[in-house]
Amino acid sequence: MRKWFVTGGAGFIGSNFILARRTEQSALIINLDKLTYAGNPANLESLHDDPDYTFVHGDICDRKLVRDNLNKYKPHALIHFAAETHVDRSIPEPETFIQTNVLGTFSLLEEVRHYWENLDDSGKDEFRFLHVSTDEVYGSLKPDDPPFSEHSPYRPNSPYSASKAAGDHLARAYYNTYGLPILITNCSNNYGHYQFPEKLIPLMILNALEGKTLPIYGDGKNIRDWLYVGDNNEALKLVVERGKVGETYNIGGCCEKTNIEVVMSICTILDQLCPDSPQIPHKSLITFVKDRPGHDRRYAVDISKIEKELGWRPKETFETGLKKTIQWYIDNPKWIESVITGAYRNWIEQNYEKR
Ligand code: NAD
Ligand code: DAU
Repeated sequence: MRKWFVTGGAGFIGSNFILARRTEQSALIINLDKLTYAGNPANLESLHDDPDYTFVHGDICDRKLVRDNLNKYKPHALIHFAAETHVDRSIPEPETFIQTNVLGTFSLLEEVRHYWENLDDSGKDEFRFLHVSTDEVYGSLKPDDPPFSEHSPYRPNSPYSASKAAGDHLARAYYNTYGLPILITNCSNNYGHYQFPEKLIPLMILNALEGKTLPIYGDGKNIRDWLYVGDNNEALKLVVERGKVGETYNIGGCCEKTNIEVVMSICTILDQLCPDSPQIPHKSLITFVKDRPGHDRRYAVDISKIEKELGWRPKETFETGLKKTIQWYIDNPKWIESVITGAYRNWIEQNYEKR
């Protein structure tokens, strides 16, 4: 079986990716994660006794740790999710974004390059490095602009997107300069279960369930292209297995919605799923608040390349995906409580610090 080394696999997209791969038993997984506030080992609790899943607690900036683990596990591919990911946090505190998303990506590329250069010819041919990135590197679209394609110019507007763009450029350079078999994906806004409730959809679900206000930035007409996390992860798997080395693939949900439309849909679904809630109608909780500085107006992704070359299209509709997501948050109060109280962070203490 293939051995895949994942970074940042205790986060939202990474944990869904690992669970899907282990469920279909398509790859052995080694997961290197620093367990920042966004990394939650409870997402992967079901793999506790899985002999084909290994967790390594550590930072991608720790080059010796990365080197030792690459040499120990000898993976056939590396899927790089680890990042600081929240735009709002990158505004007051950009430094950790530069540290992980730029310097961390650089450290990883350097260590993987040395590992790869020492593989035999067939190992070299087989190896893949998938750099997982974002549509935000392309900047912001005007209402009538065509969606972002793989040829759209890079115009990042936030410290987060600028740090991701830097990582993308480094990854691309390692292909061109050293021949490292890199693939890059730039995807739109993911949603689904296990997403940390600082991002729009889970934040609104949780606030609405608790009767807290639903803060919408600015006029609420900023547009995002919503992609169900399971669809994204199918695309990532296809890109690792069949993507053309050195290429970039854009991944999107073909689902442009204004923020106010998204929040209204959440409120309507909650009214249906929680008919006895004292918060009905949930839309009465909506409040417009001060805008995010440098707030990108519109993202939209052209998926024709991945559709044509790899036969991928998103399967989930926004209506079905959102309903499933909301139902999951309603059905998992323990997960929510541990995230809200920070209790999930005790895992690190229990499993590492006390040893
Ligand atoms: P997340 O914030 O939920 O998880 C990030 C994970 O990376 C966490 O488990 C964290 O502990 C880990 N991590 C952070 N710094 C680390 C370091 N220095 N070393 C090791 N591990 C570290 O992120 P996500 O939403 O799952 O995003 C995963 C990737 O996908 C990121 O690269 C992000 O830029 C990209 N992306 C996300 C979205 C989205 O909508 N969520 C969209 C496009 C692209
Ligand atoms: O486009 C992909 C990107 O999507 C990823 O690269 C990022 O990691 C991910 O965080 C996400 O960035 P956004 O800034 O688009 O996501 P966020 O969920 O923070 O916000 C979505 C939209 O909702 C955005 O226009 C800001 C708005 N918003 C967000 C929050 C948290 C609000 O109006 N109110 C809020 O409280």
